[in-house]
Amino acid sequence: MVNVKLQVNGRAAGADVEPATLLIDLLRGPLGLTGTHQGCDTAQCGACTVHLDGEAVKSCSVLAVQANGRSVTTVEGLAREGQLHPVQQAFIACHGLQCGFCTPGMMMTAACLLQKTPQPSDAEIVHALEGNLCRCTGYVNIVAAVRQAAQAGQQEAA
Ligand code: FES
Ligand code: FES
Repeated sequence: MVNVKLQVNGRAAGADVEPATLLIDLLRGPLGLTGTHQGCDTAQCGACTVHLDGEAVKSCSVLAVQANGRSVTTVEGLAREGQLHPVQQAFIACHGLQCGFCTPGMMMTAACLLQKTPQPSDAEIVHALEGNLCRCTGYVNIVAAVRQAAQAGQQEAA
């Protein structure tokens, strides 16, 4: 077993894991953060997307030991001080979800995009979400939600 210590959603966390344990299994298992969804386990669906040192990564393609000493944000860490993240608010307002399975990953990818590109074009939004699959929505409302979150950020900055 290997002891992994990391920051998760701003708090120190850790666990003893097998060397081959995936980050998603650390998050959903010992750390109890089941908001990160496990879809394909083959780095295709994006449901498991989290931020690792601020970068959106598919946590089924990262070993838990690779996160040692690093900072992870999961969907549970998006809201701050009881306030939903603008992306979360926009997904609600724009009906950017149906079953919700893909939603945590979609929102983590979108939040990372807006962190780097606060005013993305629709083409940039679509490109950023290419690695996140949704079986329900047809994507139109998801793109609208990210667009609205970007506009909300612009108004906040003004
Ligand atoms: S579960 Fe990680 S990409 Fe599908
Ligand atoms: S809302 Fe059902 S998979 Fe996206």
